[in-house]
Amino acid sequence: MNTKDFNFLVEFATKAPSGHNTQPWKFENIQDGVIIHPDFTRALPVVDGDNHALYISLGCALENLVIAASQKGYDCEIEYPTNSDNGITVKLKTHVTDKLIGDELFDFIPIRQVTRIKYSDINVNETELDILRTSFNFEGVSIILLNGKVNFENVIPLIIEGNNLQFQNKKFVNELTSWFRYSKHEAENKKDGLWTAAMELPNMGRFIGNFVMKNFVTAKSEAKRLNDILQNTAGIAIFVCEKNDITSWINVGRAFQRFGLTATKVGICHAHLNMPCEEIEVRHKLAKALRIENKHPLLLIRFGYAGKMPYSYRRSIKDVIV
Ligand SMILES: Cc1cc2nc3c(=O)[nH]c(=O)nc-3n(C[C@H](O)[C@H](O)[C@H](O)COP(=O)(O)O)c2cc1C
Repeated sequence: MNTKDFNFLVEFATKAPSGHNTQPWKFENIQDGVIIHPDFTRALPVVDGDNHALYISLGCALENLVIAASQKGYDCEIEYPTNSDNGITVKLKTHVTDKLIGDELFDFIPIRQVTRIKYSDINVNETELDILRTSFNFEGVSIILLNGKVNFENVIPLIIEGNNLQFQNKKFVNELTSWFRYSKHEAENKKDGLWTAAMELPNMGRFIGNFVMKNFVTAKSEAKRLNDILQNTAGIAIFVCEKNDITSWINVGRAFQRFGLTATKVGICHAHLNMPCEEIEVRHKLAKALRIENKHPLLLIRFGYAGKMPYSYRRSIKDVIV
């Protein structure tokens, strides 16, 4: 496809969220579209051993690309990969109608963010809840919305259990801190990873930052922080898929991206509390608590009202094209 449109699509695709902001994608310009390749050099082997989160991130990027394509007058035909050797092929076809009708979520791609601060104690009303509930429609993916603390109280101990397992695991902490960007300078240079400012943490050098993370941030201190956050959360959204395979993971990403953009549109913030989905034993307990034993809860998201946080960085287009 022509370079101008290709660059436009890649620019908007890369604004997608990804686990630890690794941005595990590469984009290839083909004659009639784009291939989104997984970049396994940016995988997270400890927290994401089966790469499900990596494919969810690709799904988020894919959905942004599809939305941006609609803005340019293209419809997309998508071929899902059958194994990890292949990427997602997006074939573009020009709209048949004369009138350009872009996806209304396009404007919210640049302003969406994962907002990790504490939310206010205001609840989300039924109308807005319905807007979130109907924000996507992908085969094999559903959403469970637990609105109001009384409805998600039984999930809190599982969030804490997942958190404790992770923060007691040195390999998890090492992997996490390797993606921390402790200062604006480091975040700007690398243009990936978890900038401390986007997590309400102060600027620190890497040496001090790693020392603090490894000696003062413990399972117990994190559990306390999470409990505090959960006291001020309007609700929890859990993304569930019927099958645990690459296609379903990509569709969870697409669904989550539409949810995040729709939430942004109606002024609702969201952030991940994925620990019970990432720790497989706890995931089974979560499925049982939700009475969905034969399904797979893969993302757990809190939502509510809050202000904005600093935005995370993205690598430039030239760094993500094949
Ligand atoms: C599959 C997936 C898993 C994620 N897991 C977590 C998580 O466990 N904790 C967290 O705070 N953020 C999590 N995030 C959010 C990313 O860290 C965030 O998208 C990234 O830092 C970029 O920030 P932005 O989305 O605000 O642009 C996840 C995002 C995705 C797509």
